Amino acid sequence: MTKRVFSGIQPTGDLHLGNYIGAMKQFLPLQEQADCFFCIVDLHALTVPRDPEELREKTLELATLYLATGLDPDKITLFIQSQVPGHAEAAWLLQCVARMGELNRMTQFKDKSQGSDSVTAGLFTYPVLQAADILLYQTDVVPVGEDQKQHLELTRDLAERFNRQYGEVFRIPEHQIPKTGARIMGLDNPEKKMSKSAPSEANYITLLEDEKSILKKFKRAVTDSENEIRFDPENKPGVSNLLAIYSEMSGQSVESLVEQYQGKGYGHLKLDTAEAVINRLKPIQERYRELRESGEVEAVLRRGAERAREVSEATLAEMKKAMGLVQF
Ligand code: TYM
Repeated sequence: MTKRVFSGIQPTGDLHLGNYIGAMKQFLPLQEQADCFFCIVDLHALTVPRDPEELREKTLELATLYLATGLDPDKITLFIQSQVPGHAEAAWLLQCVARMGELNRMTQFKDKSQGSDSVTAGLFTYPVLQAADILLYQTDVVPVGEDQKQHLELTRDLAERFNRQYGEVFRIPEHQIPKTGARIMGLDNPEKKMSKSAPSEANYITLLEDEKSILKKFKRAVTDSENEIRFDPENKPGVSNLLAIYSEMSGQSVESLVEQYQGKGYGHLKLDTAEAVINRLKPIQERYRELRESGEVEAVLRRGAERAREVSEATLAEMKKAMGLVQF
């Protein structure tokens, strides 16, 4: 049977190389072999205060970027989360299965709420909405970066608990995390993951960034005081991060790159990594501009939401029935 795939990205800030390597790059081969649902999770974006105009703009930008990376709207279902009401509804039903204790243990909540006295209830229940996203589509595989592993484990726990408590409704999903690019680190601080919310722009490369800026950021990327090029994320996080990015963007294995760069300096590695990134992003950026002008993205999203509503409503009805909610 054809496998079902689901993944989502938040329309917050600019998409960066971590999002591309950790998640989007995995989507491409999956569209050829599975029934894929890719979602712009705008409801998740609301868990911290946003400027409404910017959220609207970023939502359409992300939709366009999904397509610009090579996803084919005739093969996949691309949609905006808030246009499919089942997500918020299923999230409520699952909140009545989730426990405070397990949500309290989520590291993302701990990280994001630290030092803030205005944390929203939505940020706390965020992972339950994510579980609803995934479970509504009877998903088999969820391609994501490593930072989503804990949320995926919670999703499985909630699905298993629901099935035990109310009868078999959900398929239990597996995560798919890439080997090399699971956790792309910040260029200015390779001890921490590359992130849209990093305080400095030197941390990340966005998918729409121009050549000059990409080159500049790689030249300034933090490495270490040795001069040996080897892959050792623990002791040499900066160099290893460059090798991971280079490998993922060029298609060459990390081992062969290490061999090629024996005896060469870090400057060399930085320039060539920048070049591999520029070459890989160029066609995506060109396609992005074409798509923005064409105005065809809205039609893709409309069609996507229609199909997503159809599939999700079937699961939602089963959930309601199992839980004892009257439906006419
Ligand atoms: P988000 O929007 O933060 O990130 C989108 C995807 O990019 C991956 N990613 C990374 N991978 C490698 N290195 C990095 N530095 C890096 N930074 C981000 C993330 O792992 C993710 O796959 N909660 C999710 C969105 C979500 C979702 C879902 C995902 C909502 N519902 C259902 C999958 C299934 C998030 O905030 O991702």
